[in-house]
Amino acid sequence: METSVLPSAPRAHWSSRWAFVLATAGSAIGLGNIWKFPYMTGTNGGSAFVLVYLACITLIGVPLLMAETLLGRRGQGNPYDAMTTVAREAGASGFWRVIGLIGIVGALLILSFYSVVAGWILEYATRAAGGFSGITRAAAEAGFAALLADPARLVAWHTVFMALTVVVVAGGVTSGIERANRIMMPGLFALIMLLIVYGTLTADMPAALRFMFHFDPAAVTREVVFSAMGHSFFTLSLGMGAIMTYGSYLERHTSIARTCFYVALADTGIALLAGLAIFAIVFAQGLAPAAGPGLILQTLPLAFAQMPGGQIVGILFFVLVVFAAWTSSISLLEPFVSLLIERFGVRRAVAAWASGTGVWLLGVAVCLSFNAWSGVRLFELGIFDLLDALTTKILMPVSGLLIAVFVAWVMQRGHVREEIALPHSGFRLWQGTLRYVSPLAIVAIFLHVTGLAG
Ligand code: PHE
Repeated sequence: METSVLPSAPRAHWSSRWAFVLATAGSAIGLGNIWKFPYMTGTNGGSAFVLVYLACITLIGVPLLMAETLLGRRGQGNPYDAMTTVAREAGASGFWRVIGLIGIVGALLILSFYSVVAGWILEYATRAAGGFSGITRAAAEAGFAALLADPARLVAWHTVFMALTVVVVAGGVTSGIERANRIMMPGLFALIMLLIVYGTLTADMPAALRFMFHFDPAAVTREVVFSAMGHSFFTLSLGMGAIMTYGSYLERHTSIARTCFYVALADTGIALLAGLAIFAIVFAQGLAPAAGPGLILQTLPLAFAQMPGGQIVGILFFVLVVFAAWTSSISLLEPFVSLLIERFGVRRAVAAWASGTGVWLLGVAVCLSFNAWSGVRLFELGIFDLLDALTTKILMPVSGLLIAVFVAWVMQRGHVREEIALPHSGFRLWQGTLRYVSPLAIVAIFLHVTGLAG
């Protein structure tokens, strides 16, 4: 019953549905949950951000996660070729390939700064080994500032992390990515739970709960909404070809709806738990919730310094965060690498090392943007902030908008139906959301932010 447009060459596939769930959860769960979500919540006023973010996950994120997976599985290829295939099958213009292109390029841009931040975590894993005992609030803050001021150290760790990423991607889909994912996710979850227990017993969990969930409508500003929407894309890895590429390795009989639901649930759960753990410590220690990108690195050492066995817990925690980041960075490099392999016949290892080197170079500029090049600014943003804003706030939502329009309006309903095997009412609900709610929400937020409306 397969349509003839689908490529007939066999593609590597995940060994089971759980492998896809784990790999996609591995892509979704990463620095976005543990580093970015807490600091963005802190700089965007707490609950206002959290609640808009949750709304975005439900109304935009989950429907799009399903849509992007569907495109990958139907297109059976890297994002560029997959979009070419599905557009042709829908009798639509080749323009829709732009979704694949935005994704592939955006993913490389994200990886350039993602790897630098993962490098910070590596540095902290080694600092944790030395023990944080006796560290004060001021010392924790100064320790992070000292890292940012040290370009050689930033570049060294960034290099280590890029090498880790390339090694797995060079090893191929099933051997490399699956194995890395299977072991680390449960460990990370266990340690976050441990931090929650610690926070409940010794830190200020009620203050954390209040900060994150006590809703104050007045705190919902344009900037908060824009940031929350961008972050909902970032955290679910949407619009960057990662989900599409992983979807292309998904077996035909697996339920996209169910797997995507699990992924979104796990991703959101980890972010909320990480946020609670961090803010319990922040408030107990009198730290500033709005400290910015260094928030978790200025906060957690204080907790590890005081908790029994803190040295071991600290090392383990940072190592597991590196693993979470690793399974995400793999999915950021894989779309471009699969393009090089499938379209240009490049050998996997060569493709991985060559593209990794390019991303690494851009990452060096990111490292310098914290010190030597801090004066380099465009639209009042340094290189790091610029790359983050460009990808998270612009490229991801634009790509998501195009995906929603394509899947909900351009593809033939019968083909969509074949991929999303939900009962009738469930299908209607999903399709209706993807048709009207998600695109309108994205457009409304854009208009609102640019001041063209409201
Ligand atoms: N979702 C990942 C995280 O939260 C980041 C990511 C974005 C990965 C886009 C792939 C694609 O850390």
